[in-house]
Amino acid sequence: MPGALSWLDGALAGLSAKGLRRALEPLDGAQGPVVSVGGRALVNLCSNDYLGLAADPRLVAAAVAAAQREGAGAGAARLVAGDLPVHGQLERRLASFKHAEAALLFSSGYHANAGIPAALADREDAIFSDRLNHASLIDGCRLSLAKTHRYPHGDVDALARLLRGTPARRKLVVTDAVFGMDGDAAPLAAIAGLCRDEGAMLYVDEAHATGVLGPTGAGWAEAEGIRPDVLMGTLGKALGSFGAFAAGSANLCEWLTSRARTFIFTTALPPAACGAALAALDVLAAEPDRRARVARLAARMKEGLAALGFDVSRVVAPIFPVVLGEEAVALEASRRMRERGFLVRAIRPPTVPAGTSRLRVSLTAGHTEAQVDAFLAALREVVAGLRRC
Ligand SMILES: Cc1ncc(COP(=O)(O)O)c(C=O)c1O
Repeated sequence: MPGALSWLDGALAGLSAKGLRRALEPLDGAQGPVVSVGGRALVNLCSNDYLGLAADPRLVAAAVAAAQREGAGAGAARLVAGDLPVHGQLERRLASFKHAEAALLFSSGYHANAGIPAALADREDAIFSDRLNHASLIDGCRLSLAKTHRYPHGDVDALARLLRGTPARRKLVVTDAVFGMDGDAAPLAAIAGLCRDEGAMLYVDEAHATGVLGPTGAGWAEAEGIRPDVLMGTLGKALGSFGAFAAGSANLCEWLTSRARTFIFTTALPPAACGAALAALDVLAAEPDRRARVARLAARMKEGLAALGFDVSRVVAPIFPVVLGEEAVALEASRRMRERGFLVRAIRPPTVPAGTSRLRVSLTAGHTEAQVDAFLAALREVVAGLRRC
């Protein structure tokens, strides 16, 4: 008798045929600017470890110390019996880092984005979401009962028209600060002004901006000089750990504690993750040169990619879209770059819009100028080869 899941054979073959099948590929060891994959050293140009902290011995030691002090796991949801000392300690640090009154931890950026919109907007309300927002925010809008309007990427005029045309009780604008597949940023100052004029709440996802942008590394909102109603940040990218948080007013955090289902109904973060994040915040404050270094490398990469003809003019973060078009071309480019010693993934739909499959190139403070130059030379060859095909 065929199993009830036998349809998966054909479905998986269909994904393969369209170049959309995804597969795991384990690293042999820790994250870093050079990683070992299947016994081969590759320059890693696809992590989000922008400050090079994920394997930093100080974060590892802080994770171990927190686990020794407070255990390997939290053992329960925060509201049940899992509210450990390190959670409150990290929340206070994050609030001050983000220039906010309070912060509330979430298990991941995905959890935060999936749960917060529904806590703020209900069926009588409307959400306005940038068309290129991260999948987790899209899912968060779907999970809320509010009517969701998607506005063209970064288009403040279109957003204004939508906001003015809605009869909704409450309005919530949600946007990534830095778009993770394009490296560009939302026009936050203009959006914040519009939200103020239209009485809309503003939710900003700073997953790729936290630790990287702004005078103190607090993010793009800091750089733009604005205070959104909700600032979401993650601990798993530049801060080298795992988890996420919402920062804002004390009332906001109180409300989310009682109403955000992805906060309430899940086990609290393990102490090790919180200990590592606290250590990352110390390093961030003590070593501003890490941010300066990744910014310098990013400027070099930006110039090089522009010279190769790629449109990176809007990039503000150490993330570069090398847009190649069809899935198969991006996959082949990724394969050829690997032959030359570079790990850089092909990003395909649904992560990016159809026809814009790309190599997503990211840099960390641990990379060298020589690696950036070697990457650009290899890319030049690969792209020329693909154009001849
Ligand atoms: C913009 C954005 N928001 C949220 C997330 C999810 O964060 P996390 O990895 O902590 O779940 C990501 C992660 O890739 C992201 O790029």
